[in-house]
Amino acid sequence: MKKETLELIEKIKKELKKILSEERYNHSIAVMEKAIELAKIYEEDIDSIALAALTHDIAKELPDEETLKIAKENNIKLDDVTKNIPNLLHGKIGSILVKEKYGFNEQIQRAITFHTFSNPDMNMFEKIIYVSDMLEETRSKPEELIKWRELVKKDMDETIIQIINFNLNRLVKLNSLINPIMLETRNKLLLNKK
Ligand SMILES: [Fe+2]
Ligand SMILES: [Fe+2]
Repeated sequence: MKKETLELIEKIKKELKKILSEERYNHSIAVMEKAIELAKIYEEDIDSIALAALTHDIAKELPDEETLKIAKENNIKLDDVTKNIPNLLHGKIGSILVKEKYGFNEQIQRAITFHTFSNPDMNMFEKIIYVSDMLEETRSKPEELIKWRELVKKDMDETIIQIINFNLNRLVKLNSLINPIMLETRNKLLLNKK
């Protein structure tokens, strides 16, 4: 990693420590470590991946009023779901904040935007951020994690399909609303396999 990146990471860590709970802060560091591991395997830019992973939840603990204010200022359309649960916008809002605060590029912004729900158009960079959020080493549940952490090194798309299947099952059991983009991602990846 470049010296400038390492310095920037230290600076961002100090800022995140102030705005995130200890648990979320530790999660962010662990996502960064997992994303670096995968960036090496899949030959993605390690510096950019590290910065995207470290900041992916930068907006996760903003108060709802603040999230809604930033959404309004940036003309982000709200639907009935996000009006009630503004936190679901934390990927999109995070992508705006990292641009404002650190001047991060579009690739990093897209990865942060897509990390919550996935996206059918994810490239490898974005897939790495998406799976690292789930596979980072501080998580102990679900038990499938042990299998996925190995699978992801060989078959990224199959890992994402299994993660989405797991999440869909969980949401159905909770009788929660489901963002159809998860189904679109899953369908596209399944069709690509054929
Ligand atoms: Fe998140
Ligand atoms: Fe996260």
